[in-house]
Amino acid sequence: MSVSRRYQLTGETAREIATSVESGIRQGGLHPGDSLPTVRAAAAGLGVSPVTVSSAYRLLKARGFISADGRRGTRITQAPALTLRHSAPLPEGVRDLSQGNPDPELLPNLESALDAVDPSPSLYGEYANLPDLIEVARANLDADGIDASTLAVVGGAADGMERVLGANLRPGDKVAIEDPSFARVIDLMGAMGFTPLPIAMDQFGMLPGALSRALDAGSDAVIITPRAQNPTGAALDASRAQELSAVLDTRPDVLVIEDDHAGPVAGPTEESGAFTLCAGRLRWSTIRSVSKFLGPDLRLAVFAGDPVTVARVDGRQRIGTGWVSHILQQIVAHLWSDFDAPELFARAKASYASRRDDLVDKLTQRAIPASGRSGLNVWIEVAEEAETVRALMQAGWAVAPGERYRIETHPALRVTSAALREGEAEAFADDLAAILQPQTRTYSA
Ligand SMILES: Cc1ncc(COP(=O)(O)O)c(C=O)c1O
Repeated sequence: MSVSRRYQLTGETAREIATSVESGIRQGGLHPGDSLPTVRAAAAGLGVSPVTVSSAYRLLKARGFISADGRRGTRITQAPALTLRHSAPLPEGVRDLSQGNPDPELLPNLESALDAVDPSPSLYGEYANLPDLIEVARANLDADGIDASTLAVVGGAADGMERVLGANLRPGDKVAIEDPSFARVIDLMGAMGFTPLPIAMDQFGMLPGALSRALDAGSDAVIITPRAQNPTGAALDASRAQELSAVLDTRPDVLVIEDDHAGPVAGPTEESGAFTLCAGRLRWSTIRSVSKFLGPDLRLAVFAGDPVTVARVDGRQRIGTGWVSHILQQIVAHLWSDFDAPELFARAKASYASRRDDLVDKLTQRAIPASGRSGLNVWIEVAEEAETVRALMQAGWAVAPGERYRIETHPALRVTSAALREGEAEAFADDLAAILQPQTRTYSA
């Protein structure tokens, strides 16, 4: 799919050419994955020098719109950092298992928290971080063995990761990330101009040898999801946490970010707390979002870290958004410190675990390889990703194609097990088994 046939680049200067590509993406003439012409071909077509086109491509790359993909050439990134047209709504009757959302039934009711909000206006010049929220967050992180002496509040885990990376790294730096990884982490690498180093993993997280090689290759930072890894459902256990800490000890200068986006509802069932790889490190941050246990629309995470990182993030936030709304901070503090909260989280954790386990069991019984030790999703390896997603849609199931999450790993599907209702795991497994049957025959022929 070459852009020269489908979309005409225009402009005489680097800025104009870059703008024409950006407009093409925004207006739908260019799509994620489309190729751009080579520098030489674009220069010839536009009647400008190759240096001008190169500068335009550099600008687009720095903004996360395009990526250079070796011999495959220069392409529009899968999620360029600008608003795209919305994807088509699902056909009627299709069950949506693609969104990675928590189950609304397992989130706390907001009513009492809304009633508890102080209605007097909050003005400029007040505290940035609500003391009541810091107190409950600190108690929870302390209980998990995370150093919570320096804490601040940000707008969710993804916002926290962006801010911590921005506070410590520069474009061009290398960041070791899980492969497969949360899609927005991959997108963030492009948007911020970092080079991702994919780290192979299993159900207990990053493989120590693979992490060690990425550190040797010059990683400046490592992003780790300690539990509820998205998309695979991996979670650290004590022994993997120890092995990875030992590897990280060989590079004390590296920034380590823990994305604890699901907190107390993550599971696995047998673990009561969280594991951390950050103890005693020079530059680190553990970000705990409330999105999965209190609700994604609260848009809030607390993050612990070394004093320099926390001060940089806090200081930078004051220049921009200023602070996270005090109304939200009050709601979160109220819900998180509620007397019934621990029981509610325990119930949610158990429900997510049983839905995950049920789906993994039903798939395993049909010889379909599936994993999901913790979190809201199950990861299913398939031979033909796009074809299987299409066939499942026809059978009435929407799932997420693995390509959004993986860099070097095997094709797969991400299914949000958290959304499953009674009896659906069996029906889904039956449909998937029927779809995969012919694929298997083709492959073994
Ligand atoms: C691994 C991971 N990190 C971060 C997030 C986003 O968290 P937040 O809503 O706090 O930005 C998600 C959302 O599903 C996730 O799966």
